[in-house]
Amino acid sequence: MHCAVIYKFHCLFIYLLVFSTMSGNKGDHREDVEYVLKELKEGAPHGDLFEVTYGETTVDHNTELTKDESKTKPVIEVDNTKLKAKNQFLTLVVIDPDAPSRDNPANGPYLHYIVANAQKMDFSDGTTICNYMGPSPPSGTGPHRYVFLLYISNDTVQHDKVQDSQRKQFHIRDFVRKNNLGLEAAKYFTTSG
Ligand SMILES: *[C@@H]1O[C@H](CO)[C@@H](O)[C@H](O)[C@H]1NC(C)=O
Repeated sequence: MHCAVIYKFHCLFIYLLVFSTMSGNKGDHREDVEYVLKELKEGAPHGDLFEVTYGETTVDHNTELTKDESKTKPVIEVDNTKLKAKNQFLTLVVIDPDAPSRDNPANGPYLHYIVANAQKMDFSDGTTICNYMGPSPPSGTGPHRYVFLLYISNDTVQHDKVQDSQRKQFHIRDFVRKNNLGLEAAKYFTTSG
């Protein structure tokens, strides 16, 4: 009797452990997708703090670009008169919450670029943590949002270079939390697959 009770508890415990681990992993990257969208919502009202320009096109609300137009790294310019504090480090993250599609972001959020620790407003002195990769939405997957998140920090970001294999389901929340990044502004453009 006593043994059976222990056995049952043992089973229940293993079941709960397996179940919570599985659902934990599944939910994890969904929360990162949600986080990107939350940051976009919070940062968009301050979008005029920085400019993102591809060729002749400056990214604004509802900007749509083709894969070709957005395949090379854009020119970035932060307006330092609008920054709250000086002598801090700038970090820019470009990330797609809609991978492989907005309805089913199973691979999201997908990382496209991180340049960190810049003190110049054009990021020319920044450290590339993840190489720029232009949009490549699979055909038929509709519009993808390429979200630019501009952060500041008092200390430099310390992070290993992100490899191509680590772009999908990028742990953006961990990256922001570990490096004590504060969101300054956000904007996005879309490219359709
Ligand atoms: C930087 O330091 C200041 C002063 O201690 C603080 O108010 C601010 O929140 C810090 N910024 C970030 C992004 O942590």
